[in-house]
Amino acid sequence: MMAVGTAVIGSLQFGYNTGVINAPQNVSIYSLHYRLSLIYSFYNETWSSRFSEPISQSTLTGLWSLSVAIFSVGGMCGSFSVSLFVNRFGRKNSMLMANVLAFIAAAFMGLSKLAASFEMLIIGRFIVGVYSGLSTGFVPLYVEEISPTSLRGALGTLHQLGVVIGILMAQVFGIESLMGNASLWPVLLAFTLLPAVLQCVLLPLCPESPRYLLINCNEESRALKLRGTDDVTEDMQEMKEESQQMMREKTVTILELFRSPMYRQPIFVAIMMHLSQQLSGINAVFYYSTGIFERAGVSQPVYATIGAGVVNTAFTVVSVSDNRVGRRPLQLTGLMGMAVSTVCCVAQDQLRWMSYISIVAIFSFVAFFEIGPGPIPWFIVAELFSQGPRPAAIAVAGFSNWTANFLVGMGFPYVEQICGPYVFIIFTVLLLGFFTFTYFKVPETKGLSFDEIAAGFRQSAGQGADNFSSTKKLS
Ligand code: GLC
Repeated sequence: MMAVGTAVIGSLQFGYNTGVINAPQNVSIYSLHYRLSLIYSFYNETWSSRFSEPISQSTLTGLWSLSVAIFSVGGMCGSFSVSLFVNRFGRKNSMLMANVLAFIAAAFMGLSKLAASFEMLIIGRFIVGVYSGLSTGFVPLYVEEISPTSLRGALGTLHQLGVVIGILMAQVFGIESLMGNASLWPVLLAFTLLPAVLQCVLLPLCPESPRYLLINCNEESRALKLRGTDDVTEDMQEMKEESQQMMREKTVTILELFRSPMYRQPIFVAIMMHLSQQLSGINAVFYYSTGIFERAGVSQPVYATIGAGVVNTAFTVVSVSDNRVGRRPLQLTGLMGMAVSTVCCVAQDQLRWMSYISIVAIFSFVAFFEIGPGPIPWFIVAELFSQGPRPAAIAVAGFSNWTANFLVGMGFPYVEQICGPYVFIIFTVLLLGFFTFTYFKVPETKGLSFDEIAAGFRQSAGQGADNFSSTKKLS
């Protein structure tokens, strides 16, 4: 438990840095202008003193968009590099090493004002993006590998819990009376240093992933030390079977993942799961909800947005504590619930007097997201692959996630300008598509060992068939 808790500090960092710069866009219109003006005036002052002329509106907007978007670009780079680290240095050491990036980023962002350099802020955002991209690979990988089969779902969800708590923390700390003000904003950005220090202190006390030790390093005795409970024998048995399986399959690179018919289906499933998470439109809400509420006629959009953050956290807690239901029903319920909610978002536009429907619709959209499409994609990729291809698969899936995140974050305001609330119809169509895909193609992984899951895919690849029915029955 302590190992999982320590690892998810990395998830919290990802959430915090997602929320910290987006917060000005969704905490309140007042704080939007206020806080934008904090960083805007910093950019303006720096520019004026350097070039002896005020910054133009277009350069300012460009610099601001760059500061926001560069985080996802860093995330793409980080997530894609996951497999380079975890196979060479191990899971635990990779997490430890990544903190160097958090330190450097915190220094760049925290000192940017003092050094009168907006370049430092942008570079810091990029570096913390790389760190977050690495975390979205390292944490689910480590957590899944150290969890006993029966608890994999519940513990896997803790990564998402870390993310949502991070977002909420950023929103709260960003309140003007705390750190969202002219003198403390560099501290708000540099805060990321503290969780990094905490993780560096705690990680050395945590065990390395026993799967990595046994299968990659062939160190059985160290692998055995992880758990003092009697389920170790069963777990070791599972790992040994996986190890034997590994000997028959050579290490898999990202290119081979796509070339080999054996991995084609699971990697397709993994990518689609991650695309469904981002293309569901969740970050359209997290980045732009205050504007959405305002245009829907909600009188207190600020509170509605904070409410969305609270609902988000509450439903993640619910999905952490419910370990009875399988991945498929949760994912399907979540996607369908989100699709229905998007229809309500559009419907309320027709019924202006029912603006509160938009609150209900957005809250239920967020709640359904956390039932399945939020947490499940992050941990299911580790379940869909055996030890050899797992890191490469996590890298590819994470990269798809970050790319789609970038596209929605940048594209939503433009498409919304053109389509108004009908923009949500795009998400309805996508969600229904992902629902159909999940129904037909995504296998149940709950309660199955990694080897059984991989065997299910091998079987269906061998048969040249696309269905996973034999494995589905096992659950
Ligand atoms: C998931 C997504 C992230 C999103 C968050 C919202 O972790 O990957 O992009 O902001 O959920 O809770």
